[in-house]
Amino acid sequence: MRVPIIAGNWKMYKTPKETRQFIEQFQSQVKNIQHKEVIICPPFISIPAAVETLGQSMIQVGAQDAHFCNDGAYTGNISPVMLREIGVRYVIIGHSERRQEGENDEIINRKIKNVLNNGLKVIFCVGETLIQREKNATESVLQVQLMQGLQGIAVGDLSRIIIAYEPVWAIGTGKTATPSQANDVHQFIRQIIGHKYSALQSEEIRIQYGGSVKPENIQLLMKQPDIDGVLVGGASLQVDSFLKIIHYDQTE
Ligand code: PGA
Repeated sequence: MRVPIIAGNWKMYKTPKETRQFIEQFQSQVKNIQHKEVIICPPFISIPAAVETLGQSMIQVGAQDAHFCNDGAYTGNISPVMLREIGVRYVIIGHSERRQEGENDEIINRKIKNVLNNGLKVIFCVGETLIQREKNATESVLQVQLMQGLQGIAVGDLSRIIIAYEPVWAIGTGKTATPSQANDVHQFIRQIIGHKYSALQSEEIRIQYGGSVKPENIQLLMKQPDIDGVLVGGASLQVDSFLKIIHYDQTE
């Protein structure tokens, strides 16, 4: 019922030339993806190269951030209006690497609203740090991130939001939450959505897991009933490993 969604977050990797080379190799091997969404999120500067090289492909292009205003005196920033014009369909908002640089829940909420107002879709990242998990604060931290991030967002916009649960302690560390640990948190996220919106929304919202996703752990993660996809950092940078992740259901 929930279409699986696999996204690659390239972070600050790959120039426009490297982006073209990656997609040329990659594209021919993902022609027949059905009942799955695949997204690549390159750095801003490499987005046009990705969009051009993908052409009419089913693979969509996302950005890793967008400003909460459409234009203005915001040196160094990019707005959703600009991203939409160059072919972006999704924007990652609230990634922990940006939260660590000072982005708070209020800014994240404003960014989500502005992305939605511009007709784009959001990958909204939430997740606890190791210290928070050790203090048993995972649920309270996620509840605050979700409630504040989604404040004022209408039920009708929820179908354009994907939630990505990314435990901070699992990002780029090689440590993955066990599939059942991740599934428990996904269930908790569904409960929050159910309370805030309705049982239908909690069933329909897609929740990705992110944090050291690799070809070796993708199958077990995707077998969990509440995991609807993955947000992949490091393993999305090589054609081979990203392909294995995308084709997780063909290698069993
Ligand atoms: P990782 O990154 O797969 O390299 O752990 C995931 C992310 O930050 O989205």
